[in-house]
Amino acid sequence: MSPSRISRTFLGSPASITEARRFITAFLRNWPRVDDAELIVSELATNAVRHSDSGRFGGRFTVSMEADGSRLRLSVLDEGGPRAPRALPPLASAENGRGLMLVGELAAAWGVVGDDKGRTVWAVLEAPSEAATRR
Ligand SMILES: Nc1ncnc2c1ncn2[C@@H]1O[C@H](COP(=O)(O)OP(=O)(O)O)[C@@H](O)[C@H]1O
Ligand SMILES: [Mg+2]
Repeated sequence: MSPSRISRTFLGSPASITEARRFITAFLRNWPRVDDAELIVSELATNAVRHSDSGRFGGRFTVSMEADGSRLRLSVLDEGGPRAPRALPPLASAENGRGLMLVGELAAAWGVVGDDKGRTVWAVLEAPSEAATRR
């Protein structure tokens, strides 16, 4: 992929999660890890709506993507609030609390910047290199 970046702001409602996913698939087209990118954006957008002030009336969140060669940086900026993102320890029967664990497993790196005024959760995906696939 040639270097490029793109971002879009969505209303902080559950319907926007699907829109955010479509936004990134349209941009990535045939990139080898488009499914993983979709899953990550879906988890991060869901968290913005469910856990941050983006989910309050009139709230918004912004999805950004930056592609450079085999690396893709995905991020979701929310409107902050009292809670902060943290990967929860896995519980055997837990249906919730696995989103950020999953992001951590798929991404080469991920993290959180910001504070109660707004937080960005970012993740970097790396496409398999030719050397790795040729083995
Ligand atoms: N954008 C966010 N803003 C505030 N808190 C968050 C955000 N994302 C995640 N969190 C916190 O981190 C926890 C773990 O997130 P996650 O692994 O996605 O699990 P789940 O969303 O199912 O609770 C959430 O329960 C929430 O407390
Ligand atoms: Mg979640």
